[in-house]
Amino acid sequence: MFTLLKADTATKARRGRLVTNHGVIETPIFMPVGTQGSVKAVSPAELREVHAQIILGNTYHLFVRPGMDVMKHFGGLHQFMNWDGPILTDSGGFQVFSLAKLRKITEEGVHFQNHLDGAPCFLGPREAMEIQAALGSDIAMLFDECPPFPCERDYAADSLARTLRWAARCKEVPTPGMKFGIVQGSSYPDLRRESAEALVSIGFDGYAVGGVSVGEPEPEMMAAIEASEPYLPADRPRYAMGLGTPPQMVEMVARGVDMFDCVLPTRLARNGTAFTAQGTVNLKNSPYIYDKGPIEEGCTCEACRNFSRGYLRHLVKAEEILGLRLISLHNLHFYLNLMWRMRQEIENGTFATFRQNFVTNYRHHRE
Ligand code: GUN
Ligand code: ZN
Repeated sequence: MFTLLKADTATKARRGRLVTNHGVIETPIFMPVGTQGSVKAVSPAELREVHAQIILGNTYHLFVRPGMDVMKHFGGLHQFMNWDGPILTDSGGFQVFSLAKLRKITEEGVHFQNHLDGAPCFLGPREAMEIQAALGSDIAMLFDECPPFPCERDYAADSLARTLRWAARCKEVPTPGMKFGIVQGSSYPDLRRESAEALVSIGFDGYAVGGVSVGEPEPEMMAAIEASEPYLPADRPRYAMGLGTPPQMVEMVARGVDMFDCVLPTRLARNGTAFTAQGTVNLKNSPYIYDKGPIEEGCTCEACRNFSRGYLRHLVKAEEILGLRLISLHNLHFYLNLMWRMRQEIENGTFATFRQNFVTNYRHHRE
């Protein structure tokens, strides 16, 4: 299902191809986040235009609303939202811990009150995989516990042991597509290694690094990847969950990661922030009032082809929906184009130089 097409010699970057039930994914790849069955403000046709190859959906949200009766009635998530490309679904493991209230963790799973009406709910390894099967997921993530940062070693070790017992149960539940294991172990390198080795010995179609982007400093984030990656098989895709900024993704690709998902491009768009190769710009700022240029010179997205910074600034200030839609399109285009660029650079053997230049030119706050 995964073919490693080229391994970079100067870094750990990889160029690969993953075949799913709904199409082929060229890696490294970024997956736009469609939490509630929609990539916020962007239609499936527009996702195609920005060259999205795969999107992400969430078990937790779709289970809570509209619920599995509705999802089954419509024949799964692809048909419900009319996206016929690949879909990866997160298992709910993370969202149960970040969104739900009054959690109680048992060996069987997690009892919680959902974030909408507080109704008592339950998700465990079996339930999470059955839901992802009903959603018709092309890549189902295992049900895991994502411990907070920082996390005491004893808790991290106990949590990991339970997540590994859940992994064995998840493997037994039939799903129509692939299953990816999730490496946990918080900031403890030996636990990361144990987690990766145990998952690999059970055997999954791909491996994610979880428990990152939970508020840890960036060096800890990189360290978590570095502590996990050496124990993952080269012939399976690797996915860094919930990451990241553009330079973080470049650095992660250099560390052997193939797949990413992150809410930043769509979330930041909603407050007027656009990504460029020099860093983010906030279009609400006054220098752009009379600016007739595009968000980014040379960008071929719908926003940059047709509209000025001055106009987009006005839309954002006036809280016109079109503004956030256009900036979302630009930001997704930017993220997906960055992945395309990295694939080219890896193929050409020039990734190391690209990495150096990109990271040097990118400023977090350009204005
Ligand atoms: N999304 C971001 N981090 C995580 C994680 O550790 N586990 C799961 N299931 N989803 C995530
Ligand atoms: Zn653009």
